[in-house]
Amino acid sequence: MIIVGVDGSVTARAAVEWAANDAFRMRLPLRIVHAVDRTPYQISKYPERPDALLLEGARVLREAVALVHERRPTVEVTTRQVEGTPATVLQEQAEEAAEIVVGSRGLGGFAGMLLGSVSIHVAGHARCPVVVVPGGRRPVYGEVVVGVDDSPECEPALAYAFEQAALRGATLRAVHAWQLMVPAFAMDAPYDVEELRATQHEVVGAKLAAARARYPQVTVVENDASATPVDALVEASGQADLLVVGSHGRGALGSVLLGSVSRGVLHHAHCPVAVVRA
Ligand SMILES: Nc1ncnc2c1ncn2[C@@H]1O[C@H](COP(=O)(O)OP(=O)(O)OP(=O)(O)O)[C@@H](O)[C@H]1O
Ligand SMILES: [Mg+2]
Repeated sequence: MIIVGVDGSVTARAAVEWAANDAFRMRLPLRIVHAVDRTPYQISKYPERPDALLLEGARVLREAVALVHERRPTVEVTTRQVEGTPATVLQEQAEEAAEIVVGSRGLGGFAGMLLGSVSIHVAGHARCPVVVVPGGRRPVYGEVVVGVDDSPECEPALAYAFEQAALRGATLRAVHAWQLMVPAFAMDAPYDVEELRATQHEVVGAKLAAARARYPQVTVVENDASATPVDALVEASGQADLLVVGSHGRGALGSVLLGSVSRGVLHHAHCPVAVVRA
């Protein structure tokens, strides 16, 4: 089952469309979830009068269902209205899901903010893949981008990316960004940069080769970039339908919820981003 969170915002609408398309591709049922958050309003439940928040939530859910019916009439769709803070509700819902989809923004926040607190929380906590969908229309590019490094953490992301590329009949661009993190003046560093680069290339190539063998139908483009991973991935996202990253990569502390690369691309990517936990 795929789960999508809705709060009535335009961006959440984009998330519903994305989720409906993915449910169609993956042949999975779709559950639309709305969390009824009373805390900001300090509203108590008066049994004698209809609850405005619940009525509004029901309306938001009806609208989302109508959108799914319109776009993907064959997708099986259910709804849930759950009381609680949206971040917690969605994290809990994700326990039963194959994937959870949220918008990059919602109704709150402020103009110019790139990522809402609910999407950040879900991307950091859900155990299943999390897809964060930005608002706005984009053309179809026929390309899925995946970030790869030499860590085992990127393997589930690779598998997810190959699966998405195969389902979409899209090309898979595997971006490996690599830069030596030394100050520019330390040019007489005691290691051979080219040799290090070649070793990196080999390790990443071997990781890709294993996945390629399982998906011979997917065309793969390998992209070595001499840039920071965030810069390279954000640039590639400009021509992509989906950007896939692991939640952590080489160098990230096990204790942090999201590595700096996943966090960076979530904020700046031009296309939907899938964060896949190891
Ligand atoms: N009450 C909710 N119920 C279900 N899903 C929600 C709810 N609120 C937000 N979401 C999901 O999370 C996405 C991002 O919204 P989020 O709340 O993080 O951003 P925001 O409202 O702009 O900022 P913030 O709430 O942090 O001030 C939404 O597009 C939606 O998919
Ligand atoms: Mg919000």
